[in-house]
Amino acid sequence: MLVCALLVATPAFAQDATGAQPWMDVGKSPDARAALLVAAMTQDEKFALIRSRFAIGEKKPEEALTAAGYVAPIPRLGIPAQGLVDAGLGVTNPGGARAGDHATAMPSGPMTASTWSRDIAFKGGETMGREAWRQGFNVLLAGSVNLQRDPRNGRNFEYAGEDPLLAGTLVGESIRGVQSQHVLSTMKHYALNDMETARNFHSAQIGDRAMHESDLLAFHVAIEIGQPGSVMCSYNRINGTYGCEHEELLNNVLKRDWRYPGYVMSDWGGVHSASKAANAGLDQQSAGEVFDKAVYFDGPLRMAVGAGVVPQARLDDMVHRILRSFIAVGAFEHPPQRQPVDDALDAIGFDVAQRTAEAGAVLLRNENGVLPLAPGVRRIAVIGGHADKGVIAGGGSSMVGWTSRGTSAVTGLAPTTWPGPVMFQPSSPLLALRDALPDARIDYVDGRDRAAAARLAREADVAIVFATQWAAESVDLPDMRLPDGQDALIAAVAAANPRSVVVLQTNGPVELPWLDAVPGVLQAWYPGIRGGEAIARLLTGAANPSGHLPVTWPVDVSQLPRPTIPGLGFKPAQKPEDTIDYDIEGANVGYRWFAAKGLTPRYAFGHGLSYTTFATSDLQLHAEGDRIVARFSVRNTGERAGAAVPQLYVHLPQGHATPMRLAGWDRVELQPGETREVEVALAPRLFADYHPDDRSWRIAAGDYTVVLGQSAADTGARAALTLPARRLD
Ligand code: BGC
Repeated sequence: MLVCALLVATPAFAQDATGAQPWMDVGKSPDARAALLVAAMTQDEKFALIRSRFAIGEKKPEEALTAAGYVAPIPRLGIPAQGLVDAGLGVTNPGGARAGDHATAMPSGPMTASTWSRDIAFKGGETMGREAWRQGFNVLLAGSVNLQRDPRNGRNFEYAGEDPLLAGTLVGESIRGVQSQHVLSTMKHYALNDMETARNFHSAQIGDRAMHESDLLAFHVAIEIGQPGSVMCSYNRINGTYGCEHEELLNNVLKRDWRYPGYVMSDWGGVHSASKAANAGLDQQSAGEVFDKAVYFDGPLRMAVGAGVVPQARLDDMVHRILRSFIAVGAFEHPPQRQPVDDALDAIGFDVAQRTAEAGAVLLRNENGVLPLAPGVRRIAVIGGHADKGVIAGGGSSMVGWTSRGTSAVTGLAPTTWPGPVMFQPSSPLLALRDALPDARIDYVDGRDRAAAARLAREADVAIVFATQWAAESVDLPDMRLPDGQDALIAAVAAANPRSVVVLQTNGPVELPWLDAVPGVLQAWYPGIRGGEAIARLLTGAANPSGHLPVTWPVDVSQLPRPTIPGLGFKPAQKPEDTIDYDIEGANVGYRWFAAKGLTPRYAFGHGLSYTTFATSDLQLHAEGDRIVARFSVRNTGERAGAAVPQLYVHLPQGHATPMRLAGWDRVELQPGETREVEVALAPRLFADYHPDDRSWRIAAGDYTVVLGQSAADTGARAALTLPARRLD
């Protein structure tokens, strides 16, 4: 049976804890237990642990469950099998090969990030971890925290936005949630895999300081909070060296400076050498027999160890790191149990997905009270976006294609093969709206006939256009435009009915050329398995929007650091370049770039409207020992309950290369008229600069201003603070 591999006889060994198998003693630390195990292992057993096999297709080991990777157990020592499954938006089931398995399709990464809620991020991780465990896996390839440097990156929907503190914090919480279920989580893709075009060879060019103050900071924060068992090194090169053989990033930064105790696994097809990679800090090769030129971490590495090119101690360290991570998450004592599908558990997952979507949708624009829909609204035109069937999802290895509601609600859309198929989660906004407003007449047209759509809109009190943009792993978007003539459709509908609303389901920011004619815009990202229900509740006011952008929304590509990038999209006319120059913006990703260049985006980072209003007051700043603390009050000044997301930005002393940085925030639920005193500990690293010369973070003596606002563009209340020079630990 498929299950047995993951259910090796660990519990029996665990009972024998103190006898012949002292590493089973749960009273010992993970490191002590791993050291005992390594000492008891043969060389062959060690080599068996440092490579996973691809568990999809013809080379799948017979006993493995179909999923991204598998390492056989070592029953003699009570070492469990490693069952590796994708990914960060729910548990995938490639091709539906695991008959009967289904999972909660979570909203996309930016949607979770838009909640600015540690709790929601944790619950999402916990849900995915629990579902992975119950499907027989003990590794979830989650924890995607590459920074969004460009809205055209095809994988932005897996990530958590552009800010290192926000992304690192929320992804860290999600990882913590996964691992609370005895399922080891990765954090990926380390590092600078910020574009997909030519991802297997392009080199991300960036200076040390800029790298540490942006992408690496996000990874570091996520590690501190989430303590992921494994870090997945990326495909791309960084300053000329492949991510999975990057001594500086793996050995020096990750393992030495950050004292990371876990193991580094490669991305699938990311290994190019044996001794170079092993000596640089790679601990496990993933599916090399299918994706790499050689299974480097078998024959070639055995030779290198035999010849002393890779020390035996390094091999032992690789094995130690792997084992201690499985021990640390409790994977030895709590082997995954494949269990029949459980409706009650499904309902819990779906509720988490819906709560995330309701808290993460961002109300970008709401003029003339077009939203929420008036209770007495009689006729509504719903147009386009397959809203009669479902909500769109992103493509690639993270796609959750099997839920208890079945597979894609819309089939046959190109591309139908990798990185497709294009997936629509079966959660129809149209049906959810009809349920929510039983007295209204709600008609639907698919939008292919623009004139028919305009006619329907004209007859309605309100017209709602659903616009979608599909994005996927391995390919970037060619531009920032909605595809398939949807801009023209929206313009036609808006011309026919001034009370038009656009619900966007996109990878991230897109151009909004029709904006002046459309009073209401809701950004619903890829909203997951309960997206339709969440959107209906937000549009009708049953839920109050509280999402805030985790990315800056540019007007168009001309505002980006790299307006043109050769080779984007499917079948590009130009060849991709070998390098991407990230030093153009350096650490000034997103809102920092806009502030440094004096550019006005369409919507600022942190922007998000509500059906109520909030006011903040009494901002005070204190430096208390090593802590910098902001205190203020926030009040709900409107008529509805809602959640405020007050944000604190530090403005660095005059002349600093980075004008401002998000240093803290809170998310506060408030009843109408309610006031709350809030205390936010600001992250000292956001006041500091990274100094590559001595690898330290130092706050420079000077005058700092902290601005409390509802977005990065809000000039809100400000308070000043003079800080002495200080080196952070
Ligand atoms: C992706 C990873 C994924 C892995 C296994 C790679 O192509 O970049 O994110 O976890 O495949 O499916």
